[in-house]
Amino acid sequence: MAMGARLCSSSIIVVVVVLIVAAAAEAMRCPGTTSVYRRPKKKAADMVDMPLDADVFAEPAGRNAPQQVHITLGDQTGTAMTVSWVTMEEAGNSTVLYGLAMDKLDMAADATVTTYTYYNYTSGFIHHCTLTNLQYGVKYYYAMGFGFTVRSFWFTTPPRPGPDVAFRLGLIGDIGQTFDSNATLTHYEASGGDAVLFMGDLSYADKYPLHDNNRWDTWGRFSERSVAYQPWIWVAGNHEIDYAPELGETKPFKPFTHRYPTPHLASASPEPYWYSVKLASAHIIVLSSYSAFAKYTPQWKWLEAELGRGETMRVQFERWLVDAKVDVVLAGHVHSYERSRRFANIEYNIVNGKATPAANVDAPVYITIGDGGNIEGIANNFTVPQPAYSAFREASFGHATLEIKNRTHAHYAWHRNHDGAKAVADAVWLTNRYWMPTNDDAACVLAVVVVVLAFLSSAARGGVTSTYRRSLQALPDMPIDADVFRPPPGFNAPEQVHITLGDQTGRAMTVSWVTPKLPDSNVVRYGLRADNLTHTANGTFRRYSFGRKYRSGFIHHATLTGLDYGTKYHYAVGSGDTASARSFSFTTPPKPGPDVPYKFGLIGDLGQTFHSNDTLSHYEACGGDAVLFIGDLSYADNHPGHDNNRWDTWARFVERSVAYQPWIWTTGNHELDFAPELGETTPFKPFTNRYPTPFGASGSTRPLWYSVRMASAHVIVLASYAAYGKYTPQWRWLEGELRRVDRAVTPWLIVCVHSPWYSSNGYHYMEGESMRVEFERWLVDAKADVVLAGHVHSYERTRRVSNVAYDIANGMATPVFNRSAPVYINIGDGGNIEGLADDFRWPQPDYSVFREASFGHATLQIVNRTHAFYEWHRNSDGVKVVADHAWFTNRYWFPTDTN
Ligand SMILES: *[C@@H]1O[C@H](CO)[C@@H](O)[C@H](O)[C@H]1NC(C)=O
Ligand SMILES: *[C@@H]1O[C@H](CO)[C@@H](O)[C@H](O)[C@H]1NC(C)=O
Ligand SMILES: *[C@@H]1O[C@H](CO)[C@@H](O)[C@H](O)[C@H]1NC(C)=O
Ligand SMILES: *[C@@H]1O[C@H](CO)[C@@H](O)[C@H](O)[C@H]1NC(C)=O
Ligand SMILES: *[C@@H]1O[C@H](CO)[C@@H](O)[C@H](O)[C@H]1NC(C)=O
Ligand SMILES: *[C@@H]1O[C@H](CO)[C@@H](O)[C@H](O)[C@H]1NC(C)=O
Ligand SMILES: *[C@@H]1O[C@H](CO)[C@@H](O)[C@H](O)[C@H]1NC(C)=O
Ligand SMILES: *[C@@H]1O[C@H](CO)[C@@H](O)[C@H](O)[C@H]1NC(C)=O
Repeated sequence: MAMGARLCSSSIIVVVVVLIVAAAAEAMRCPGTTSVYRRPKKKAADMVDMPLDADVFAEPAGRNAPQQVHITLGDQTGTAMTVSWVTMEEAGNSTVLYGLAMDKLDMAADATVTTYTYYNYTSGFIHHCTLTNLQYGVKYYYAMGFGFTVRSFWFTTPPRPGPDVAFRLGLIGDIGQTFDSNATLTHYEASGGDAVLFMGDLSYADKYPLHDNNRWDTWGRFSERSVAYQPWIWVAGNHEIDYAPELGETKPFKPFTHRYPTPHLASASPEPYWYSVKLASAHIIVLSSYSAFAKYTPQWKWLEAELGRGETMRVQFERWLVDAKVDVVLAGHVHSYERSRRFANIEYNIVNGKATPAANVDAPVYITIGDGGNIEGIANNFTVPQPAYSAFREASFGHATLEIKNRTHAHYAWHRNHDGAKAVADAVWLTNRYWMPTNDDAACVLAVVVVVLAFLSSAARGGVTSTYRRSLQALPDMPIDADVFRPPPGFNAPEQVHITLGDQTGRAMTVSWVTPKLPDSNVVRYGLRADNLTHTANGTFRRYSFGRKYRSGFIHHATLTGLDYGTKYHYAVGSGDTASARSFSFTTPPKPGPDVPYKFGLIGDLGQTFHSNDTLSHYEACGGDAVLFIGDLSYADNHPGHDNNRWDTWARFVERSVAYQPWIWTTGNHELDFAPELGETTPFKPFTNRYPTPFGASGSTRPLWYSVRMASAHVIVLASYAAYGKYTPQWRWLEGELRRVDRAVTPWLIVCVHSPWYSSNGYHYMEGESMRVEFERWLVDAKADVVLAGHVHSYERTRRVSNVAYDIANGMATPVFNRSAPVYINIGDGGNIEGLADDFRWPQPDYSVFREASFGHATLQIVNRTHAFYEWHRNSDGVKVVADHAWFTNRYWFPTDTN
C-alpha cells in the first residue's frame, strides 16, 4: 500500500530524488498519524474525467493555433528551455521568437516537428524547440504560430545554482484529467511554485478504449495554463508506458516520448526516462521504475556515476541514496498521500532477518504524492497498524510544495484539495543531510523492532560445501589462432553456424551463419537425406558495426518451417555449387506431451577459455538433445573496445555443438555491450544481430524474454537486464505466460534467468534480489519445478525454498522450506575469462544443499511426467564422474514428494 513498502523491498520505485535540500522532521509526530480527515467518499466508479467539452479542454481560437504549449528545462540548470506545442491542421511555422519584453522578441529558434500514429490515431504536428543562451533568474516572453495564429507566453528561468538560493518546488503526481485534477492544479497555482516536479502519470489516456490518444491532447490543453509558464520536470509513470500489443503498439512510452522531451543528454543519460537537473540549490535525480535498473544496465551505470561512485556496489539504490545522504525521495503511483520518517532498510542479507525498516538519520524522507486526482480514484486501504516509518498519511487528493530557504532549511507543506488553497494539512521543516546531518528526532526509534525468524530446524538438512579443491587460477581466452577458432576452408565459406527454435515447439528451426567477405546466398537447403536436400528456406542478411573499428560479416538468418516432430533433417548453407558450401544436421524435438523424455544440457557463462572448451567437450560427451544456455556467451566485452571479433571467435568455437542441436538463449550482462564511450548506447546490439530467438511465437514483443515448449517441458526465459517492474512489457508477458502453461501437456516448468535469486556466494551477492521480489510469488503459485541461473562463476543447488511472506513491516523475510517452490540451480560455471567465484558466505544457509567453486555443466534428463534426473559434472573429473545429482519430482504431478 505505502510506497515505502515498494521502495524498501528493493523493487525500486524511487522516482524523484531531491539531493541538496531538505530533511529531518524536527517537529516529527511520534507515533505516526493516520489523518482522521474524512473526505466525501468517492469510489473509482464515481471518478469521471471532465467531459470533452469542458472549458479546460477548449482548443484555442484561430486557424492552426498552437495548442498544448508546455516547457521543460532544455539543459541541466535552466539556461536553456525547451518549448513544445501542437498544431492540428498543418505543421505551420515552427519558429519561436523570444526576448525580454513582449514587444521585443529579438531572438529566434527553430523547432523540429514530429508526428506519430497510435493504432488508428494520428497525432497533430508536435513541435519541440530549445531556447538557448538564457540568463539565470530572468523573465522571458515567447511566441509561436507565425503565419496564422500567434500565441505568446512567458516564463522565468531558475536562479543560478548555489547553496543558499531559495526556490519553491511544486510536487504533483498522478494528476489525470478529472474534476479533482482541475482542483489540484488550481490549488497548486494558488500556492505559487516556481517549477513542478511531476511524479509521473500524466493523462491516463490508457484507461480509454484503444488508449484513446485524444486524451493526451485534452490533457495537454488542460495543463497548459501552468506548464506553458513554468518548467515541469517529468518523471515517467506506468500510465506513460502505453504498451498495447493487442493494438500492435509494442514500443513502450511512445506517446510520452513524442510529446514530452526531457533534458537527459545534459546529464549524460542515454534515455529520456532518467536524468538529473539542478534547480537553484536542489540537485534533482529522476529515475525510471519502468525501465531496466538491475546492476550493469544503462540506468544503473548512470546513477552510479551520477552519485559520484567508482567502486562496485550492491545493486540496491537505497544503499546509495543513504550513503549519498539524499534528502528526499518523492514518489507517486499510490493515489494517496504519505510522508515517512528518516528510515532505511538496507541491512538485509537474505538470512540475517534484518528486514525491518530502521530509523537512520542519513536516510531520506520518503514522500508519496500520487494524489493528483486521476480517474482511478483514491487509495484508502492503509496497512494497519501504521508502520513505524510512516509519519503521516491520508487518503485525499492534493499537492505539496517544497520551499527551499537556504542550505540548511526547507519547508515542506502538503495541501488537500478540500481545504481552501491556503490551508496546510501536513507540514514539516526539513534540515539538510549534508549541512545538518545529525539533526533528527531520535525518540521514534523505540518503535522499531527487529524480528529474526529462526529457520525451522525440522526442515533444515544442513547443506554441503564441497571440499573438492581445484586451482583457482583464471585462464586467459584461447589464443586467436587456437584450433577451435579456425575459420572453415574455402573462400567466403559460411561460418559460425548455429540453430535455435524457430517457433514455440520445434516445428520450425532458425539457422544462422556468417559469410565473412560477400553476402552470398541466403538460402538454406534441407531435407531428410544428406544427398537429396529437396527443400529450401530463404533468409535475410544484415551487418552491424560496433565502435569505430568493427564491422561484422554478413549475418544470415533463415527459418525452416513445416518440419515434423522428432525427425532428423540435413541442411546446407553457402552456394550449392561451390566448394565452400557446408552441411550439418539436427533432430527436431518430439511432439510435446506429458511423458515424452528429453535431455537438456545446462550451461552458463561459457566464454572462450581453455576451461570453456573443457566444459563444451564434457557436455558433448554427456549427450543432451538441446541446451538451455543461461546467459553470458562470448565475453567479448572484456576485451579492449568490446572487441567484437571475439563474438566471431566464440561462434566458431561453439559451432561444433550448436550447429547440430538447438540452444535456447538467455541474455546475461555480458550481452548488454552498452558502451557510451564508444558511441554504443543500444543495449544488446551484437547479441540481437547475431542470435535470434522465437519470441514472437509466445506473444513476447522483445527477443529477450519468451518461452518454448519442448517435449514435456515448458521453458520460460526471463531477462535480468530489461525492465521487469510492474506494468512493464516483461511483467505483463510473464503474468499472461504463467496462465498459458498447460501442465497436462508440458508437466515440467523450467525458468531460465541470468542473475540468481538465491545464491550464497559473496560474488554478485543479492544482485537478483529486486527481480526475486517482483516475481518469486508468481513462480511459487505456479509451482515451477526448477529455476536456472548463471552469473555467479560457481555451482550451487538449493532445496525448495521460498521467501514470499514479507510485507515490509512484518519482519518475515527469511527463506523457508516450501514444497511448492522451485529448486534453484546456479550454473554460471562455464569457465570464462573472469575466473571462479570461491568466496562463499558462512555459515552455509540452510536453503543451500550443495555448492562448489568449480567449472562444469549439468544435464536435466526428464524421464516422464513425475520424474527427472539432474546431474552436475565438474570439468576436473572424467566425464563419467557425477559430482552432484538429484531426482526431481514434478511439482504438478507429484506435489507432495519432498525431493
Ligand atoms: C516563421 O516565422 C518567422 C517569424 O515571423 C519568420 O522569420 C520565418 O521566416 C518564418 N519561417 C518560414 C519558414 O516561413
Ligand atoms: C478507431 O477505431 C475505433 C474502433 O474500431 C473507431 O470507433 C474509431 O472511430 C476509429 N478512429 C479513427 C480516427 O479512425
Ligand atoms: C477548472 O478550474 C478552473 C480554475 O479554477 C476553472 O476556471 C474551470 O471552470 C474549471 N473547469 C472545470 C471543468 O471544472
Ligand atoms: C486491502 O489490502 C489488503 C492487503 O493489502 C487486501 O487483502 C484487501 O483485499 C484490501 N481491501 C480492499 C477493500 O481493497
Ligand atoms: C535558513 O533558513 C531558516 C529558515 O528560514 C533560518 O531559520 C536559518 O537561520 C537560515 N540559515 C541561514 C544560514 O541563513
Ligand atoms: C530426392 O527426393 C525427391 C522427393 O523426396 C525424389 O522425388 C527424388 O527422386 C530424390 N532424388 C534422389 C536423387 O534420390
Ligand atoms: C528464394 O529467393 C530466390 C531468389 O532470391 C527466389 O528465386 C525463390 O523463389 C525464393 N524462394 C522462396 C521459397 O521464397
Ligand atoms: C578444444 O577441445 C577439443 C575437443 O576436446 C579439442 O579437439 C581441441 O584441441 C581443444 N582446443 C583447445 C584450444 O584446447
